[in-house]
Amino acid sequence: MFARRLPDPPLNPPPFEMTDPTVRQREIEREVERRRTFAIISHPDAGKTTLTEKLLLYGNAIHLAGSVKSRRAAKHAVSDWMEMEKDRGISITSSVLQFPYDECAINLLDTPGHADFSEDTYRTLAAADSAVMLLDCANGVEAQTEKLFKVCAMRNLPIFTFINKMDRYGKQPLELLEEIQNTLGMDTYPMNWPIGMGKDFQGVYDRQREEVLLFDSEGTHGQTKVKTETVDLHDDSIEAILGPRRYEELLEEIELLDIAGEPFDLEAVHAGELTPVFFGSALTNFGVQPFLESFVDMAPSPAQGQMYDVDPKREDFTGFVFKIQANMNPNHRDRVAFVRILSGKYERDMHANLVREGRELKLAYPQQFMAQERDMAEEAYAGDIVGLYDPGYFKIGDTLAAGDPVEIDDIPRFSPEHFAIVEIEDALKRKKLTKGLKQLAEEGTIQVFRQRHMGSKGAVVGAVGILQFEVLKHRLETEYGVEVSLRDLDFQYARWVEGDFDADKFDRLNYTKVLYDQDDLPIILFRNDWALDHVRGDHPELTFLPNPPGTPGLQELHGHDWGF
Ligand code: G4P
Repeated sequence: MFARRLPDPPLNPPPFEMTDPTVRQREIEREVERRRTFAIISHPDAGKTTLTEKLLLYGNAIHLAGSVKSRRAAKHAVSDWMEMEKDRGISITSSVLQFPYDECAINLLDTPGHADFSEDTYRTLAAADSAVMLLDCANGVEAQTEKLFKVCAMRNLPIFTFINKMDRYGKQPLELLEEIQNTLGMDTYPMNWPIGMGKDFQGVYDRQREEVLLFDSEGTHGQTKVKTETVDLHDDSIEAILGPRRYEELLEEIELLDIAGEPFDLEAVHAGELTPVFFGSALTNFGVQPFLESFVDMAPSPAQGQMYDVDPKREDFTGFVFKIQANMNPNHRDRVAFVRILSGKYERDMHANLVREGRELKLAYPQQFMAQERDMAEEAYAGDIVGLYDPGYFKIGDTLAAGDPVEIDDIPRFSPEHFAIVEIEDALKRKKLTKGLKQLAEEGTIQVFRQRHMGSKGAVVGAVGILQFEVLKHRLETEYGVEVSLRDLDFQYARWVEGDFDADKFDRLNYTKVLYDQDDLPIILFRNDWALDHVRGDHPELTFLPNPPGTPGLQELHGHDWGF
């Protein structure tokens, strides 16, 4: 179809040390080309969990759908923090699943789907080579999908659209395409076209192959793969199968798409300008396999994507830390640093340099990402995510490199929009509090600031989503044994300041407040838009940045106003 066929995976590749350099290079190239690393972006309830599970079903990683939730629940039960997630019925942290499909190794990064999200969600997208945008056919493009889409658009991430819940009545397919075009400004190319909708959803028409796929899920409740009958559109039997009216309708719609629609252009897909659109129902499995097949065919491998400054086929291992998570085991303080591999090959317990500190570390590998019961291989390549044991070495955005060091652009950050003063109940536990805040800030859960003249006593925390404060309180209590209360500060914006200014004056005003970040850089909090505009007007000599100087902020990338 679109991409070239991928080479066969190696049957028992020899151990690395026994291979000569050209064999090693070829192995890396082959493995990188097999990788597909993506995340699903959607509004809560669009069906992300359901689709994830069905992708695993078709990847033969699970054999009966309906097991993902229960396994998640069992895993969650091992940690208090996870228990909180379970209680709230949401997933606060992101995880990653690897499963094979066809000749590809697929890495699915799970982005939290609840309405109040953190920077974590965005950073996860920084580790993906493409995204699947999942829409509910009744709701079209919803608020959170739009926000996440914008983050993808900033990186020109290729986006594949799956319009879900076609087994229910929703908006008309053409209306949905128009909505994507108008709301997100992205061209669409329907790869297939639904035949019927709601309880009459019979199948899809594959535009490339000119075939009708008829689905039959009789009695399976979507637990197992759906039976599919493939009939050529030009076959005599098709009119009788669909019925004359639906057949006529389909022919008209196909003609309309061919005449009025965008032409297919894989380059435009890879540039994030054109989204291939698929219709289906994750619940009944209708359309899941056609989607997955086309997706692995068209989605860029890390080599095609070239999202980063590092050549993915470079022999030496390179990676960056995009997420740090407390270990699931509450008896240990250990953390897991999630590393997206950018080049070379990871081998268990290998050594690499932590570029920020210039020191060599052993990369111990504590975590397997279970899509199935077997262990994940002890080696990984560009596009893969490994969870490294982290006794406190890593910070978000850190680069790891074996061989020559490399520079990678900082991961964009969001400016916090919620602020609170941390008040401790038991003053004797201040040391523990300082340690807890430091570690949680390194994980990216919150940002920590200090008030003028107050040192650690006047810690102020800032977060992108208000839910992060609850997470902070809970974790300080359960992981560090410190009870705190958080006193909300009524400010909306934080701006790093460049230029000399009179801190006393800004502290006296009732619409600004001066703080210092962890590197002792000054920031000013502003109560609202008016305060920000007013101070900007009064002080043209000062520059106000939404992020620390030198760090790209999502608000300012590419000079767009993304409305965050
Ligand atoms: P999320 O992770 O995006 O939040 O969504 P999730 O998969 O949990 O799905 C949200 C609801 O939508 C679930 O129903 C799920 O069964 C339903 N759903 C998902 N895909 C489809 C689909 O293709 N067709 C239809 N008709 N429904 C779909 P629920 O009643 O909230 O939960 P449950 O009791 O079914 O688990």
